[in-house]
Amino acid sequence: MKEISMHILDIVMNSVRAEATLIEINIEDSKKLNRLKISVKDNGMGMSDEMVKKVEDPFFTTRTTRKVGLGIPMLKDNCERCNGSFKIQSREREGTLIECDFERNNIDRAPLGNMGDTIMAIIGSLESCELLYSHVTDRGTFVLNTSEVRKMLDGSSIRDNGVLLWIREYVNENIQYISTI
Ligand SMILES: Nc1ncnc2c1ncn2[C@@H]1O[C@H](COP(=O)(O)OP(=O)(O)OP(=O)(O)O)[C@@H](O)[C@H]1O
Ligand SMILES: [Mg+2]
Repeated sequence: MKEISMHILDIVMNSVRAEATLIEINIEDSKKLNRLKISVKDNGMGMSDEMVKKVEDPFFTTRTTRKVGLGIPMLKDNCERCNGSFKIQSREREGTLIECDFERNNIDRAPLGNMGDTIMAIIGSLESCELLYSHVTDRGTFVLNTSEVRKMLDGSSIRDNGVLLWIREYVNENIQYISTI
């Protein structure tokens, strides 16, 4: 079973390819509400209405190297199998918002996976794009803003290995602190 963090990586890589300069990831993990909600918003090139319809179909992709794009259809399928929902809103030249959720205690729900690894991989692939990540649980909220991290770095790149490893630990420690089982 694919971890949900792998889906998040897929969806965010779509935003990177769409030349977004700001990507916002929001995770709301509530044991009380029995819901795990994920949203990814970008200000990239967006999609036409016709394109949005096609994107949910696994036999559609604009890439020429492969015939099928599976990132979005697989996530949609996983959400729906877990009594959840999936929605894309997009506008050409404005951006895209993907919102989905899972029934948290559904037997088919994959684990969230390692968000530290995922955020490290995302930031490592960003060139001129900022990431705003927020993670909310019943116990608290954790926020990571790459533009704030950059200000703290005076000079060194956010993509340096040492910085990326620090970000991974920082994310994992903070998420562990607000997690509930
Ligand atoms: N955030 C986005 N902004 C603009 N276009 C997008 C966005 N997300 C998806 N798309 C379009 O939808 C298509 C399908 O996305 P999907 O993730 O399902 O497949 P893929 O990225 O083409 O391939 P895969 O994810 O399997 O490697 C993309 O090729 C792209 O054209
Ligand atoms: Mg994709």
